[in-house]
Amino acid sequence: MKEEKIELIKDGKRLSGRGFEELRPIKIDVGVLKRADGSCYFELGNNKALAAVYGPREMHPRHFQNAKMAVVKYRYNMAPFSVDDRKRPGPDRRSQEISMVSRKALDPVILRELYPKTAIEVYVEVLQSDAGTRTAGINAASVALADAGIPMKDLVSSVAIGKIDGEVVLDLDAKEDNFGEADMPVAMIARTNTITLLQMDGRLKKEEFERGLKIAMTGCRKIYELQRAALVEKYSKSGNEE
Ligand code: CDP
Repeated sequence: MKEEKIELIKDGKRLSGRGFEELRPIKIDVGVLKRADGSCYFELGNNKALAAVYGPREMHPRHFQNAKMAVVKYRYNMAPFSVDDRKRPGPDRRSQEISMVSRKALDPVILRELYPKTAIEVYVEVLQSDAGTRTAGINAASVALADAGIPMKDLVSSVAIGKIDGEVVLDLDAKEDNFGEADMPVAMIARTNTITLLQMDGRLKKEEFERGLKIAMTGCRKIYELQRAALVEKYSKSGNEE
C-alpha cells in the first residue's frame, strides 16, 4: 500500500471496468503436469499460478514424520519474471509466510490421519502476478490435491477483498492493492462457510470488515463452483487421455 494517491474509481467503476463485487476472469485447467500426482493451472485475471502435488509418500527426513498423520508441506514460490521488477530467486520472508498460511488454509480439509508417517507435498509456482497470488495459489493447490486423489472433506476456495477510494471491493488487482487502503485475503470451505485463512493489510472499519467478509464469502462460493466444474470436466472425459 503506497502513500501517494491515484484515482481508482471513476464514475462508479473500477479502472478495469469491473463492478465492486466482480471477480476477475478465472480459468482452471486440471492435470496439466504429467509427473506430478495432481496438478492445476489457475488464472485469476493476470495472475497465473501452477500447483503440483506429490504424495502421500514416505516422509524424509524421518524425524519430521508424524506417527499419527500425514504432514503437509506447502511451498509458494514467485518466479523471478512474474513481477515488474525481477524478483530475486529463492525463498524470502514473504514466500515463507505465504507458504505457512496457505498450508494452514488447506490442512483442515485433508484427511491427514489416513496416511501416518507420510508427506503430502504441494508446490505452487506463480508465473505471473497481479495481486492475489496467494489466493490463486490456494485455489490451484486445492484442485491439485483433489486431482492427486488425496482424500479431502471438501475443496478450499480463496479470494481477497479490499478497500479502494473508500469503497469495499472484491478481488483487488495490483494497482488497487498498491494504491488502495486495505487488502484482506480470505480462504474458506465454501459448503460449510468455514474460514481457513483471513489476513489483513491496512485498515477497515468494523462494518467495512463485515461487509467485506460477506463479499469475499460470496466470491469464494463462485470460485468453488468453478473448481468443481473443472474437476468434473476432467474426470468426466472418457479415457482420461493417459
Ligand atoms: O500476491 P498477494 O496479493 O497474495 O500478496 P502481496 O504480498 O499482497 O502482493 C501483492 C502483489 O504485489 C503481488 O501479487 C505482486 O503483483 C506484487 N509484488 C511484487 O511486485 N513484487 C514482490 N516481490 C512481491 C509482490
